[in-house]
Amino acid sequence: MSKLRLGVLVSGGGSNLQSIIDHCNSGYLPAEVVIVISSKEGVYALERAKRHNIPSFVVNPKTFPTKTAYEDEMIRLLNSFKVDLIVLAGFLRVLSPHFVNTFQGKIMNIHPSLIPAFCGEGYYGEKVHKAVLDYGVKITGVTVHFVDEGADTGPIILQRAVPVLDNDTPETLAERVLQEEHKIYPEAIKLYALGRLQVQGRSVKIIKGEEH
Ligand code: GRF
Repeated sequence: MSKLRLGVLVSGGGSNLQSIIDHCNSGYLPAEVVIVISSKEGVYALERAKRHNIPSFVVNPKTFPTKTAYEDEMIRLLNSFKVDLIVLAGFLRVLSPHFVNTFQGKIMNIHPSLIPAFCGEGYYGEKVHKAVLDYGVKITGVTVHFVDEGADTGPIILQRAVPVLDNDTPETLAERVLQEEHKIYPEAIKLYALGRLQVQGRSVKIIKGEEH
């Protein structure tokens, strides 16, 4: 079976990128990261790509006259590396219908809460965990979903709960959630790679296999 070709889009530290690379290298994932694109210069995710000899590019939206021109450059790169699945890993841009329709059903995102709570426009990074603590919920978690035209609105693939502890700060909670992200994202990508995800409207059915 040929390996699934992953294109990973990042904007930050890239610990999820690292986890995906590690799960490819260990043989858990029948996949390889063939390209990394960052929306920002100088982020640590680029360093991680370099260390693993993965071609990486900075495509900074601020250097393009329009959002379409910006996304066209990413589309060109992703197509030239023959990417099968686009994985958003801490990527801080909302993709337009133009981009989403180009790769219909082939873009995944991870969000550090149990969607539909604490998600959508403005809920990113530490803001999510701060909102969780401000609200006082006892359980938060992680969601992996397909990307559609909205912000965090696409069909949900996997979710996992993470407890909120009394003495949590946004930092300690983010750390606990991140540990779960590093497990669940490879799981979701593996299910995709094995052809076990079936989208039916808003819901994603997981076709039974040996491991789940
Ligand atoms: C993660 O919490 C992810 O869910 C969110 O941004 C963070 C990225 O972390 N979308 P990293 O860059 O993968 O370390």
